[in-house]
Amino acid sequence: MEKIFINTPNSKSEILIGPQWSLVNELLPETGVVILTDDNVLGIYGKQFPVAPVFSVAPGENSKKMSVVEGLALKLLENGIDRSGFILAIGGGVVCDIGGFLASVYMRGIRCGFVSTSLLSQVDASTGGKNGVNLGSAKNMIGTIRQPEFVICDPSMLSTLPDDEFLSGLSELIKTAIIGDKDLFEIIENSRKEILARDIDMLTMLVTQAVNFKSRVVSEDENETGLRRILNFGHTFGHAIELHRGIKHGFAVASGMELAAEFSNEMGLISSSEKERIISILRDFKLLEKQYITEADMEHLIVHDKKKSGSSIHFVLTEGIGKATVKKISVSEILGFYNRFRQKK
Ligand SMILES: NC(=O)c1ccc[n+]([C@@H]2O[C@H](COP(=O)([O-])OP(=O)(O)OC[C@H]3O[C@@H](n4cnc5c(N)ncnc54)[C@H](O)[C@@H]3O)[C@@H](O)[C@H]2O)c1
Repeated sequence: MEKIFINTPNSKSEILIGPQWSLVNELLPETGVVILTDDNVLGIYGKQFPVAPVFSVAPGENSKKMSVVEGLALKLLENGIDRSGFILAIGGGVVCDIGGFLASVYMRGIRCGFVSTSLLSQVDASTGGKNGVNLGSAKNMIGTIRQPEFVICDPSMLSTLPDDEFLSGLSELIKTAIIGDKDLFEIIENSRKEILARDIDMLTMLVTQAVNFKSRVVSEDENETGLRRILNFGHTFGHAIELHRGIKHGFAVASGMELAAEFSNEMGLISSSEKERIISILRDFKLLEKQYITEADMEHLIVHDKKKSGSSIHFVLTEGIGKATVKKISVSEILGFYNRFRQKK
């Protein structure tokens, strides 16, 4: 197993990558363990779970809400879980986000670890300690930043992932490459066949590269006061598209990255050929939306984005493949770009 550490002022977390998630048994305390999962993951992998009480939520974003967390907390209490308890979340980004949040607030904080089962959570969501739930339609409005003790990313578990979920995760992997790893971008460009065939060695390498990059960013800026903002590349427009069109996170972020690349090119930060390379890779994996939302809808949605401070946004741009930069840009400037982009389409 590849081993990567996240060291922050308050915690240490280890991320293990490789096709052997049964190793989780060696990382758990002897007593007080409960498992949190969703019904899909339970159905496929439940028989191989460590021996412990299992609480399962309905799959999908709709489970990321306070009422679900409250219900789970009551179950912990009924099962006699005290401050020495341990939550093992086995699932994708939704289960890890709920599990990490529950562990950080139940009895003011108990231990937790993750087995990360979707590509999106392996390359992004389960690394970095951000957790939380949605508030109405506003994403991730309630949560904390707290590192799990360990995360296991077993790429062999990705063989059972539905195609659209796999592609959605691939989008966040491409994001990592654009903002921080030129070599990774080239590998993805040249390995379409192996990636889509979910070759285990290829996936192990890709997940390792992505986790390596994210853990370096998080170790430097756990609370997102600076560098960590680059991880939001594609997310300003992406969140608006996700909310409006109700499509999967990764697909919405892909269209957000297309727009961010166009914006970067318009500002003279990247050449037209680099912009084309970014758009081509997204198109090759069929990640881009064909319809663009109206200027009025975009305005409404961006104004409600939680990353907005005052009338401007920390907008993430690229200065070339493998390099990101964050600029505080007024909402009107962002919308002006979007209007020009729409008129060209
Ligand atoms: N905390 C963070 O830093 C962070 C970063 C990015 C995204 N996120 C969050 O992650 C969530 C999206 O994560 P996701 O895409 O993993 O969603 P998800 O957890 O809903 O998983 C997607 C689907 O795949 C299924 N699934 C998961 N693993 C499987 C497997 N091995 N085999 C078969 N089916 C499997 C799930 O049951 C679900 O239906 C969003 O809520 C997003 O906000 C969090």
